[in-house]
Amino acid sequence: MKSILITGGAGFIGSNFVRTLLRLEPDARIVNLDALTYAGSLENLRDLPAPERHTFVQGDICDRELVEDLLRQHQVDTLIHFAAESHVDRSILGPAPFVQTNVMGTFTLLDACRRVWGEADGFAGRRFHHVSTDEVYGSLEPGAPAFQEATPYEPRSPYSASKAASDHLVRAYFHTYGMPVTITNCSNNYGPYQFPEKLIPLMILNAVRGQALPIYGDGKQIRDWLYVEDHCEAIHRVVQDGKPGETYNVGGGNQPYNIDLVREICAILDELRPGARPYAELIQHVPDRPGHDRRYAMDISKIRAELDWVPRHDIESGLRATVQWYLDHPDWVRAVLEQDGYQTWLDKNYVERGGK
Ligand code: NAD
Ligand code: TYD
Repeated sequence: MKSILITGGAGFIGSNFVRTLLRLEPDARIVNLDALTYAGSLENLRDLPAPERHTFVQGDICDRELVEDLLRQHQVDTLIHFAAESHVDRSILGPAPFVQTNVMGTFTLLDACRRVWGEADGFAGRRFHHVSTDEVYGSLEPGAPAFQEATPYEPRSPYSASKAASDHLVRAYFHTYGMPVTITNCSNNYGPYQFPEKLIPLMILNAVRGQALPIYGDGKQIRDWLYVEDHCEAIHRVVQDGKPGETYNVGGGNQPYNIDLVREICAILDELRPGARPYAELIQHVPDRPGHDRRYAMDISKIRAELDWVPRHDIESGLRATVQWYLDHPDWVRAVLEQDGYQTWLDKNYVERGGK
């Protein structure tokens, strides 16, 4: 791993991964291709540990010519693919960009690698790593065993369906063309630089602004929360030592009800930034998400046994670090909240659905 093309490296997980890689791989050079949609920001890439080894390129992963140029120009040996439309609620209100970026974008990257690597010296020493989600497996009933790598795909939202389609394409390029691919399917991440449309940062920032904390439905849905740094280390491990053609499930083993997680965030805020009244008084139940998956849980025995990876953060320490990070970064928060379109999104998703 010497010349690495990262897609979506100005987003939440991608920008955390850029930091992880610069720290763990002292010889690596990174080219970071990101379209800077509403979810991506150069603010996420400030103060990198070794900025001279990082080159940012603004562009679309669906732009085949650009992708091929970057692969050739930088003699890329490793592509790590994060770029995606990533928010389920947006996929419900407008699915088209999800199919375009997640399906067509992934296809474009795969086929560009097939051509450029094929024309050069073939696939030896190359790797295409695809970052995917646990949501491709569908929704678990209470008490059902956690998702394993062999669990059949049963995506239920336009987001998860588009990610499932991209996973299938990646596998097809392994079986058909022998491209050395790996896939990680990971559970919900949280941590620094997450855009405040997702549950945890939305709750932190709404709370400190004295705004309602909107819980969909009864709040008894379950996610398997993982601190983002742990996810980044898992991806690094898989890219280094994972077997081509294989999929690895990644998860945190932390599975609270949404409502209890939000209460925990409120309790941390009561301690770190005490207000006039307990933050939990801002909790408000709002109409449920259509087709809302009830429960996710990941079985991580494969990555633990084969690659010796386990998460290093528990939910208590990870949540506390995350709340503290948002409190300590008012400039980042201001830039995001003032961004064109953020308030429009809140109005569309919450006010128009009858919440707040
Ligand atoms: P994000 O929405 O924060 O960031 C996505 C990034 O991709 C942004 O910087 C955006 O500008 C960029 N992008 C979008 N469309 C693009 C395009 N057409 N061309 C180039 N760049 C484009 O997402 P995230 O939460 O960091 O997720 C990263 C990846 O991890 C995604 O593939 C997602 O499916 C997967 N994933 C996320 C989670 C999670 O909890 N956030 C969990 C498991 C897997
Ligand atoms: P989210 O962060 O959007 O991730 P995902 O849908 O990919 O799991 O949501 C996490 C959980 O929190 C999910 O069950 C939906 C719920 N949720 C709310 O109750 N209120 C909200 O305002 C948001 C954004 C999510």
